[in-house]
Amino acid sequence: MTLTPPDFESELISTYAHPVPRYTSYPTAPHFGADIGAGHYALWLEEIDPASTLSLYVHIPYCDTLCWFCGCHTKITRRYDPVARYLPALMAELRQVHDRVPAGTRVKSIHWGGGSPTLLEPADIRRLASEIRNHFEVTRETEFAIEIDPRGLDRPRIQALGDAGVTRASIGVQDFDPVVQAAINRHQSFDETQQAVQWLRDVGIDSINIDAMYGLPHQTRDAVSATMEQVIALDPDRIALFGYAHVPWMKRHQSMIDETVLPDAVERYRQSQLAAGLLVEAGYRQVGMDHFAKETDGLSRARDRGTLRRNFQGYTCDTADALIGFGASAISCLPQGYCQNETAISKYRDCVEGGGLATVKGVRVGADDTVRRWVIERIMCDFVFSRRALRERHGGLGAGVLEDARRMERFERDNLIESTDDGFRVTERGRPFVRAICAHFDAYLKPAAAGHSTGV
Ligand SMILES: C[S@@+](CC[C@H](N)C(=O)[O-])C[C@H]1O[C@@H](n2cnc3c(N)ncnc32)[C@H](O)[C@@H]1O
Ligand code: SF4
Repeated sequence: MTLTPPDFESELISTYAHPVPRYTSYPTAPHFGADIGAGHYALWLEEIDPASTLSLYVHIPYCDTLCWFCGCHTKITRRYDPVARYLPALMAELRQVHDRVPAGTRVKSIHWGGGSPTLLEPADIRRLASEIRNHFEVTRETEFAIEIDPRGLDRPRIQALGDAGVTRASIGVQDFDPVVQAAINRHQSFDETQQAVQWLRDVGIDSINIDAMYGLPHQTRDAVSATMEQVIALDPDRIALFGYAHVPWMKRHQSMIDETVLPDAVERYRQSQLAAGLLVEAGYRQVGMDHFAKETDGLSRARDRGTLRRNFQGYTCDTADALIGFGASAISCLPQGYCQNETAISKYRDCVEGGGLATVKGVRVGADDTVRRWVIERIMCDFVFSRRALRERHGGLGAGVLEDARRMERFERDNLIESTDDGFRVTERGRPFVRAICAHFDAYLKPAAAGHSTGV
């Protein structure tokens, strides 16, 4: 039977839109276990090579209102005292980690995420930034990115970010349509967003990223198209376009979203394709599966050089050798493995203020994991699998992966990949399904893995 194009599209989506990880780590977070704890983390920090480079992630798990779609680790507070009480814990953790990391290890990048780090008062923004500089080797070349909720943002906070040395701002937008905004409990006007962008540029923070989403309740292609036009008008350097991950069994508040008005898998696919097309038409280049960047942006250049990386924040040009996460729920990625901090804020505070580290779970990265992690990251970033590169990098350790790479017929048959002289390349058609292709190399994944979001 010959399928007409729309049927073919639906067929492809029903085959590949099954739940798969986002591969921001490998092994992925559901495989972290309590057998890895603070003792391992302390040792792994001490074993860091002082010639290597660090990336520091600081998590601020607070927001002042709850967006019903939110998949981040955050707590809603209308008062500042919980935030004020959280800061000394962060400072304590900075000290504990500093005491273990070999002196002189250079910091390549800093990222404050959340939650909403812009909830911090200006004096606290300056204090936290200077504590980081007091404890770690931050240089003039260090990139400093922060996630920003533009709603209610004011000039003193932005001035504090400028004074703190922030170089890049990542602004949450999602969708500007009022009907969508009502359905996700996030009311945000274009004007206040534009004002925030202008203020950031006024203090010299001119590397701007915008987060947008598709697959939201009541979202239509018209809404996506209008939002993209407005996003383009803000002239950001980068856009991250995320598909809404609806996981109410993990994020209970998402059950406030009416599932009957969520776009289905085919509509999600069309929305993502439409948004991607508009961004490319406006001069942005697609980087990885869900980022778009101006040609001059570091992310674009990393794509061209083959140095694009993937970490918990998504695609990045940060090439640091180790990532150290601070704060409740923060994850560190060290050469030996991943460590995750206590998620409950009060328990996190008790651990670090008691003089210890707050690691409660993690996973050691074994030899096979190291190879698969590299293969999955290269496919996610370059859309290429090369036997030659695998052999050069991992020698004989790649035997299992090579075996898996021999069984790719279904992807080839569906035109998601095409053979090259020493492996395969993901086709244009295959790019939206790259997570499913990576899942083929995931040794931990059982069929029909529960707990992940839809693959498109
Ligand atoms: C920590 S927030 C960004 C900063 C700030 N809190 C804000 O919302 O403006 C990180 C981003 O993750 C994305 N995000 C949050 N929940 C999501 C979900 N369930 N599915 C997909 N993306 C999500 C949103 O695009 C959001 O801007
Ligand atoms: S999307 Fe951002 S502002 Fe909204 S609840 Fe989540 S972290 Fe907070």
